[in-house]
Amino acid sequence: MKKDILSLSALDKSDFDLLFERAKELKSRHKKGICEKSLAGKTVGLLFEKPSTRTRISFEAATAQLGGTALFIQVADTQLSRSEPVADTARVMDRYLDALVLRTFSHAMQEEFAEITTIPIINALTDKCHPCQVLSDLLTVIEYKKDLNGLKIAWIGDGNNMAHSWINAAAKLDFTLALACPDNYMPDEDILTAAIKAANGRISISNDPAQAAADADVINTDVWASMGQEAEFEQRKEVFMPFQVNRELLGRGAKDAIVMHCLPAHRGEEITADVLDGSQSVVWDQTENKLHMHKAILEVLVAG
Ligand code: CP
Ligand code: NVA
Repeated sequence: MKKDILSLSALDKSDFDLLFERAKELKSRHKKGICEKSLAGKTVGLLFEKPSTRTRISFEAATAQLGGTALFIQVADTQLSRSEPVADTARVMDRYLDALVLRTFSHAMQEEFAEITTIPIINALTDKCHPCQVLSDLLTVIEYKKDLNGLKIAWIGDGNNMAHSWINAAAKLDFTLALACPDNYMPDEDILTAAIKAANGRISISNDPAQAAADADVINTDVWASMGQEAEFEQRKEVFMPFQVNRELLGRGAKDAIVMHCLPAHRGEEITADVLDGSQSVVWDQTENKLHMHKAILEVLVAG
């Protein structure tokens, strides 16, 4: 395993397997009330530039439950907001912390941190990707479907950071990914091209949600306007309405299809309330698994 998790494109199949296995073990031990000490004496920083509910709390709780200490730091409260260079900030944090979890707009900024520091840098979302979220989402799929092999996973909506991490995962793991995105909101061409090449026909993309959802085992969506794109919302709403995950679209999936959403969700926009709150939705297990997967990530990267 490399020092950092910046993108799933840098993980090998064996890295995914290691994280899935350890997360499952940690989840089962957590349910039995077993206390872990694998991060005893370690300090994990969380440097965030965008809002977060789940990712922040699950990384903080994961660190505490493994016996470590988490420090939450908002970028606005640091000298970064007064133009201290990223490189100098990275050098400083490297001297204080045992790992740094970063949520930033810029992906390049996280790459700069990773290059300069000796500690693990963990991507908790950038405009480009959201790797830790998709790791825990894959864990949820494995729990519900036993195995990823041969599954059809549909991505309906924006070709955004979440879509990119699903595409990167599909390039490495044996499931089929069918994406349906509006014409002007397709995923990044470089990410898509590289993954399609590696995936041997397992990744398809169209602007047809019905086709992507047909017989799918998993139907996945996300917000129409990501953090930082709020001003585009009205314009996006019109384009994205045909991509809403609703009862009719869900009816096209496999009978036992599960519905996933990384949250926060907007009922009545990208997903209807009856589907999000319905019997095929697994979003609350999905959100819980962030805790267990983040523990596995911290253990593997920090404790070794
Ligand atoms: N899913 C997710 O990353 O949620 P937060 O933005 O609340 O962390
Ligand atoms: N695509 C969303 C994911 C939120 C967890 C965003 O970036 O806002």
